[in-house]
Amino acid sequence: MRSLLLGVETTCDETAFSVVTGDRRVLSNAIATQHELHAEYAGVVPEIASRAHVERLLPTLRRALDEAGCMLDQVAAIAVADRPGLIGSLLVGLSAAKALAWSLGVPLIPVDHVHAHLFAPLLDTPASLEDLTPALGLVVSGGHTALYAIGSATDIRMLGSTIDDALGEAFDKAATTLGLGHPGGPLLERLAADGDDKAHAFPVSRLGSDSTEFSFSGLKTAVLYAVRGLPQRGGVFERDHTALSERQKADIAASFQRAAVGALALKLERAIDQWAGPKPRTLLAGGGVVANRSVRNALETVADRHGMSVMLPPMPFCTDNAAMVAGLATLLPIPEQGEAMSASPRATVSR
Ligand code: KG4
Ligand code: ZN
Repeated sequence: MRSLLLGVETTCDETAFSVVTGDRRVLSNAIATQHELHAEYAGVVPEIASRAHVERLLPTLRRALDEAGCMLDQVAAIAVADRPGLIGSLLVGLSAAKALAWSLGVPLIPVDHVHAHLFAPLLDTPASLEDLTPALGLVVSGGHTALYAIGSATDIRMLGSTIDDALGEAFDKAATTLGLGHPGGPLLERLAADGDDKAHAFPVSRLGSDSTEFSFSGLKTAVLYAVRGLPQRGGVFERDHTALSERQKADIAASFQRAAVGALALKLERAIDQWAGPKPRTLLAGGGVVANRSVRNALETVADRHGMSVMLPPMPFCTDNAAMVAGLATLLPIPEQGEAMSASPRATVSR
């Protein structure tokens, strides 16, 4: 039982703890979401997020231990997401993780939250990373959209990322324009199911003929104009979403989703075409947007076309969770503890 890892995740607006075994079996996955606190602002408010983490930390830890049926003194290491994220939110989780590691006398393993999304598909599977690499990685979440070449858990190279909005952010903003709630991704997906995805020819950004970077701001603006009409003098719009029928809104949602998924597929194809060295054997994908059925189908289609296997996390491991943090830690060497225990949170993405 000493091989249990405790994962800690507070990078954005989910407070999460998870107990995972050394071979990545997830014994508990406790998540306290803050969606209700941020809904009225249609986005995450950093100050509110940090305070809510402080309040929810210990009850969520308690829940993770209870669900796993274990005690803190059975934990062999603490894995914490210390980058990238909202600085206040990171400070809460990293400080808690250091205190736990210090008091239990166990190692602290800081991990990159975006990299943790990449390896979430390996949770609760017997798969061995050596059999999957080289792998093409994709993270599509509310804060990140990027492609990676993965050689191992410590050999991860970014091939391209978004130059403006993350795809989850574009889903959320399009949902807000359509008058849906927060977070809008799942609500927009539901609305799109009733729409005609060819009703609007929204732009699929290419960024030249060989770029593996993404851009979703043009798509977001196209949705804004489709819903609200063209801006008039003084930035006033002709109408808002209340002027549209449910059918018209569903058509916009479906057309948005088709363009978004088209952009993902295009850049995946380019990344495979431009791959240096032995071709990728596997597509590993993670992040909240991978919960989307059309996105999952598109990833499966691209991987199939190139004879690659695809591993996608089950829904609870797509959006932010601490199981993926502990899961990645099982693949990493235990760092030198003087350095780990004096680590500062890093708000920005590692490249
Ligand atoms: O990975 P995640 O929980 O947080 C970040 O690390 O950013 O991703 C959250 C994002 C939100 O933008 C949310 O709207 C989006 O994932 N999302 C979805 C779906 N479920 C969550 N987007 C599209 N379709 C979904 N079903
Ligand atoms: Zn995330």
